[in-house]
Amino acid sequence: MTILVTGGAGYIGSHTCVELLNGGYDVVVLDNLSNASEKCLDAVKEITGKSLKFYKADMLDYEATEKVFKENKIDSVIHFAGLKAVGESTQKPLYYYHNNITGTLHILDLMKKYGVKNIIFSSSATVYGTPKTVPITEDFPLSTTNPYGSTKLFIEQILTDVQKANPDMSVVLLRYFNPIGAHKSGLMGEDPKGIPNNLLPYIAQVAVGKLEKVHVFGNDYPTKDGTGVRDYIHVVDLAVGHVKALEKRTDVPGVHIYNLGTGNGYSVLDIINAFSAACGKNLPYQLDPRRPGDIAECYANAQKAKNELGWTAERTLAEMCEDSWRWQSTHPNGFED
Ligand code: NAD
Ligand code: WQD
Repeated sequence: MTILVTGGAGYIGSHTCVELLNGGYDVVVLDNLSNASEKCLDAVKEITGKSLKFYKADMLDYEATEKVFKENKIDSVIHFAGLKAVGESTQKPLYYYHNNITGTLHILDLMKKYGVKNIIFSSSATVYGTPKTVPITEDFPLSTTNPYGSTKLFIEQILTDVQKANPDMSVVLLRYFNPIGAHKSGLMGEDPKGIPNNLLPYIAQVAVGKLEKVHVFGNDYPTKDGTGVRDYIHVVDLAVGHVKALEKRTDVPGVHIYNLGTGNGYSVLDIINAFSAACGKNLPYQLDPRRPGDIAECYANAQKAKNELGWTAERTLAEMCEDSWRWQSTHPNGFED
């Protein structure tokens, strides 16, 4: 079975390629490398001892994307490609809408043209906006607070409409919580460009000495220690979730929606402490005001994925931090090292 992985050179996509190859699937990657390095795909090959087909192409380029469908008999698409920086999306909304939505329209159009009926889409817990309660189940009301989140919500709606018009299609919407960690080999992990926006890569760069201290955004939230609470999930658990979705939902018509999280909420201070333990030094931090747009608490009820996909996140927070530290300490400059 051949899987087209859009955005397969990126953080979550590359870890998913490893799990797909280990699971015996053939993998075709389409990525324009706008936020990734081709070296990441070398790491995928080294870890698995298997090869994959890579197209350096932009999904906004219809002809280049069509070439991938023309030259390969694709059975399913896993669609990771997209821009994901929340702050940047508020500055450049049209860039985000165009890249994420137009790109997806091209993929869907080509799926129709080449008779591909299965798609798994990278959605996000961001589609729950500011949840009234936690843990969050899939039937919670949806809303967004920034253009990035809106692209996820709009694409969920587009996929739902397309499935309705093509009832033999299988659409899987996977709503990720906060992916962190790296592959155990230490050969690949998150490699953000510039100063990281997200907590874990920021902490990892403090630990390796590239940044001075962690800035904790807010200590007056109604949480156990006043700092924001999130559901951090190991990227390999997340990758395995995609393989489970393929196994259980390929050629099962419908729109299938799952939260992929652990169900545990950890505060910013919990994460700083866990990472300090993993790297063996007390990481300096400073309490700063809240970051605009942030919510107090967000964690999943992941029971539906357990019941229907037979999937649960298995890796602990300590493992997430250890694996992230192994990658960061051996590759302080990411794939440049
Ligand atoms: P990433 O930036 O590492 O991966 C995305 C990949 O898509 C990159 O390799 C990039 O080069 C590629 N890409 C972007 N635009 C493209 C285009 N027009 N044509 C071809 N390739 C293009 O991000 P990630 O963390 O691996 O996220 C993967 C997906 O999961 C994204 O859709 C993201 O929105 C979603 N997601 C991520 C998180 C997170 O916290 N990392 C959480 C929820 C959802
Ligand atoms: C986590 C916690 C911050 C940085 C974002 C997107 C979401 C999803 C995942 C894609 C919060 C605090 C952070 C720092 C801090 N992405 N923090 N200091 O905001 O939960 O989710 O990434 O879909 O859509 O919004 O993740 O890692 O940025 O923040 O104190 O330097 O860490 O306030 O409580 P977030 P994050």
